Amino acid sequence: MNNLTWPFASIGWVTSIIQRASASQERINEFLNQPAEIVNPSKEAFEFNGDIEFKNVSYTYSDSNITAIKDLSFTIKKGETLAFVGKTGSGKSTILRLILRQVDPSNGHINIDAAPLTGINIEAFRNQSGIVPQEVTLFSDSIANNISFGTHSDEIDHEQIVAMAKLAHVDHNIQEFPDRYETLLGERGVNLSGGQKQRLSIARALIRDPKLLLLDDCFSALDSETEEIILSNLKKVQKNRTTIIVSHRISSLRNADRIIVLDHGQMAEHGSHDDLLALNGIYAEMYTAQLAESKEN
Ligand SMILES: Nc1ncnc2c1ncn2[C@@H]1O[C@H](COP(=O)(O)OP(=O)(O)OP(=O)(O)O)[C@@H](O)[C@H]1O
Ligand SMILES: [Mg+2]
Repeated sequence: MNNLTWPFASIGWVTSIIQRASASQERINEFLNQPAEIVNPSKEAFEFNGDIEFKNVSYTYSDSNITAIKDLSFTIKKGETLAFVGKTGSGKSTILRLILRQVDPSNGHINIDAAPLTGINIEAFRNQSGIVPQEVTLFSDSIANNISFGTHSDEIDHEQIVAMAKLAHVDHNIQEFPDRYETLLGERGVNLSGGQKQRLSIARALIRDPKLLLLDDCFSALDSETEEIILSNLKKVQKNRTTIIVSHRISSLRNADRIIVLDHGQMAEHGSHDDLLALNGIYAEMYTAQLAESKEN
């Protein structure tokens, strides 16, 4: 009896593991078999020149029924810097999602270099874009691999990684870590501060040498001095790069060629920093409030 107890107990144990695994596999399959909503319509080579046009674009999230963008029209030309500013939930991140075609507009059209976004090789277009998302995702891997993530790492040498970290003003932090660029992040390694994460994420976007650079509130955890340094570094490597900056803070975007103030998904005001101040509307009000706040600190 004693000899039989253990084998029988293990059979029960193994069966229960198998059952749990099959239930999990079923859920994984369900996820893997989800058809993609956006299928690449073309395999043709696509070279992004730098122009983007929104024509009366609206977008409603189907799950929440929230209309995040309402009848928005604007253009941005090659090499220009366009900025979006607005309260939380005003639709800024949704605009970036629409540009990268993570979602398609409910109404209206988006043109890329005068061709409909829905017709171009979206993979090629995304490969030529670099986004610094609002929420940074880092992997439990070395700092160097985190920066070169998304590129063909065999084409990237160490000098390039360091150069990008310098542009993003994070190199001096990395040099202080025990293994420098080989320092492991995450569970097995060091944890970074919010601002360090944002700067790594900026370096990651820049290393792709994108023709379109999208910055989604990526200076929010940085002090204004660091922000200033990175912005002026970005200017140096601008080279005909179309740039879109999204921010709550006016200091991040006052030097943009044009600024669009969003309010509940609609364009409330637009123009240069000086134009908008002269308007004495929402933007001017935000500016005064933020100026007072920075003086208090
Ligand atoms: N995945 C989603 N599903 C449903 N509704 C969403 C989703 N993402 C955003 N929304 C809604 O769409 C609106 C616009 O959201 P969006 O993220 O574009 O705002 P935002 O301007 O980027 O805000 P923040 O400054 O806080 O980042 C919000 O009302 C939000 O609740
Ligand atoms: Mg956002």
